[in-house]
Amino acid sequence: MANPRALNGALSRALAGTLDWMVAPAFGAPGFAARAQSWSEDGGMASLTGRRIVVTGANAGLGRAIAEALAQRGARVDLVCRNPARGERAERELAQDHPAAELALHRCDLGDLEAVRELAAALLADPAPIDAVVHNAGALLAERQLTREGLETTFAVHVAGPFLLTALVRERLVRDAPSRVVWVTSGGMYTQRLRTNELRQGAETFDGVVAYAQCKRAQVELMQRMHTRLGPRGVQVSAMHPGWADTGGVREALPGFHRVTRSFLRNAAQGADTAVWLAASTEAAAAGGLLFLDRLPRRTHLPLARTHTPAAEVDALWALCERVTGERWPT
Ligand SMILES: NC(=O)c1ccc[n+]([C@@H]2O[C@H](COP(=O)([O-])OP(=O)(O)OC[C@H]3O[C@@H](n4cnc5c(N)ncnc54)[C@H](OP(=O)(O)O)[C@@H]3O)[C@@H](O)[C@H]2O)c1
Repeated sequence: MANPRALNGALSRALAGTLDWMVAPAFGAPGFAARAQSWSEDGGMASLTGRRIVVTGANAGLGRAIAEALAQRGARVDLVCRNPARGERAERELAQDHPAAELALHRCDLGDLEAVRELAAALLADPAPIDAVVHNAGALLAERQLTREGLETTFAVHVAGPFLLTALVRERLVRDAPSRVVWVTSGGMYTQRLRTNELRQGAETFDGVVAYAQCKRAQVELMQRMHTRLGPRGVQVSAMHPGWADTGGVREALPGFHRVTRSFLRNAAQGADTAVWLAASTEAAAAGGLLFLDRLPRRTHLPLARTHTPAAEVDALWALCERVTGERWPT
């Protein structure tokens, strides 16, 4: 007789496979629920005591859920927050809910490269090994805004800031290997072919949704390129997209989308789950260079989408990141 657990796993995988072709349920709560059926009980992260994980954008939405999931399993979490009051509140609430949690709060606007340098210095000044960095902070902007360094803000926050932070802590991650870097990207990147020349200052006719999706595509390209450099040195670099989760970011940036989809959106913990798993699970030890949704590797381009990035375009993206951050990261 067939093993009921194996049968259940096979059925849920088949269901999840079917859902993958139906974007709305796959990205929403039904896709999460279907795939979660086949996961192991502790997800390979029963205890994270002794681990130190840095999470950006940790005071709200997915970042807060990532921080909470890590803290409740015993990890020390470095909460990187842009707004001091919101950061302190998140730290206080997490400490109340998880009295044993070890938390460290850092203030940083990821779009401000000087602030990113200060953040990296503060992280490195603490001798505790760094096990993982989760690049989660992000926002979809309605209008084109330039940072004080003259960069389009979406690009600065999602691409230049995380590139610089990774570059500045990479030797520590190598020292502390095995270690991990996780990028929280978006399924929106499937709609875009990378146009590096539009990133630095934004396209002439600015569209916040396109700028956001371009930067999310750039994150996936950087992730793969970083993994080729860091993977052989023991630092695994991967990416995930959370599907569609009900967070303040979605409610504020996309109110119409939220109204239509809210009945089947995931909650923040479900959206955060794969980032937690990639950052901490023993099951995710071979995730380097790959994009995940719901703990499964995914294609980075849709079939027939004509979004593939030529190597020369990735070279240009890398060179742009080096130029705007002033941080050389040679091959
Ligand atoms: N929710 C979804 O369905 C979904 C789907 C695809 C991808 N994502 C990605 O998931 C990540 C988290 O999104 P979310 O839905 O959780 O959004 P959210 O609820 O708006 O939370 C975003 C977090 O990022 C922080 N942040 C924004 N800009 C920052 C900056 N310049 N410097 C430092 N921190 C900054 C925010 O801080 P403040 O409180 O100061 O604003 C907040 O803590 C983003 O990268 C987003 O693109 C989300």
